[in-house]
Amino acid sequence: MNNKSVGILGIGKYVPEKKVTNDDLVSMGLDTSDEWIFERTGIRSRYIVSENETTSDLAYKAALKAVKDASLTVDDIDMIIVATTTPDYRLFPSTAAVVQNLLKINRPIPAFDVAAACSGFSYTLSIAENYIKSGHYKNVLVLGADVLSKNIDWTDRTTCVLFGDGAGAVILGEVEPEYGILYTKLYADGSCAEILKADGGTKSPLTEGFVRDKSHFIKMNGRLVFKEAVKVIDMSIKDLLDDCCLNLSDISYYVAHQANMRILDYVRQKQAFKTNQVLSNIDKYGNTSAASIPLVLDDFNHQFKKGDYIILNAFGAGFTWGVNLIRWSK
Ligand code: UT7
Repeated sequence: MNNKSVGILGIGKYVPEKKVTNDDLVSMGLDTSDEWIFERTGIRSRYIVSENETTSDLAYKAALKAVKDASLTVDDIDMIIVATTTPDYRLFPSTAAVVQNLLKINRPIPAFDVAAACSGFSYTLSIAENYIKSGHYKNVLVLGADVLSKNIDWTDRTTCVLFGDGAGAVILGEVEPEYGILYTKLYADGSCAEILKADGGTKSPLTEGFVRDKSHFIKMNGRLVFKEAVKVIDMSIKDLLDDCCLNLSDISYYVAHQANMRILDYVRQKQAFKTNQVLSNIDKYGNTSAASIPLVLDDFNHQFKKGDYIILNAFGAGFTWGVNLIRWSK
């Protein structure tokens, strides 16, 4: 392992064309209101795939933008990793292999998926970073892509108002020394598995009755997940600041997984972040799972300056969570 600095060379995102507002959900007959959803979550709208659109379609479009932003071509990519828990195929092939084919990369580069739910992007970034540091790979396409709209019960108001579809992509590669990913810590606590889950795997295989009962859709104990989320966020920010010998005033921006505006408000108050340090776009996209952090990075890319210290903080089912510190190198 050498001491190369690895960072983001290019970034891109894609969300489906179809926008669904809170009022649209009410018009569809859901027993909810724009007021409830916005006050409890900060969400105003989300983007939803069409019937034939897949996770790889979104990932492919985001990838093309990231490649262009990095001033590279698809021929420069030598590995593809997709963070997703909503793959195109239930078992296999991986969505990353599908993306490789869509990008028309005919060379046999490695392509694989990482399943860490909403923490997937933090996990995947770190995996890619280490492959580049090993010296065996140069430009890795890292994607966070999820289509949760095909995995929720659209009559269950406790979950369907929360989620949206999207994909964010970055090209990771070598950057100048002391820039890029400076720190990563990843965590999991499998004892919390039942508070946020989607059945239909080997524990409860898909049968006709199981699907009829909608048992395969996302189930969440929102209050417990909320409590767990704020606990692990506090833990991971403390770890990062202690381990890196930094203060909050050294941090330019805090980019957390976009699950609920109230979680972000809690972190801002608890940590005493300034309002403009905590970035959010949950109002537009809802919770897009593994895509949410790169969607924020892409939306706020224009305001980042070289040298900015940016915390990425993901959390989600498992329970899994992760924190990365990036020194912006573009
Ligand atoms: O991405 C992975 C991580 N996910 C998260 O971090 C999500 C964390 N959890 C949350 O964001 C929140 O718990 C929710 C947004 C999911 C729910 O907010 P809450 O303030 O915890 O509401 P609640 O579940 O305690 O429900 C309060 C009330 C209930 O009615 P009663 O029992 O008080 O009469 C619900 O039935 O709100 C009702 N309710 C709704 N009402 C209108 C639940 N969903 C809705 C809805 N519209 N969509």
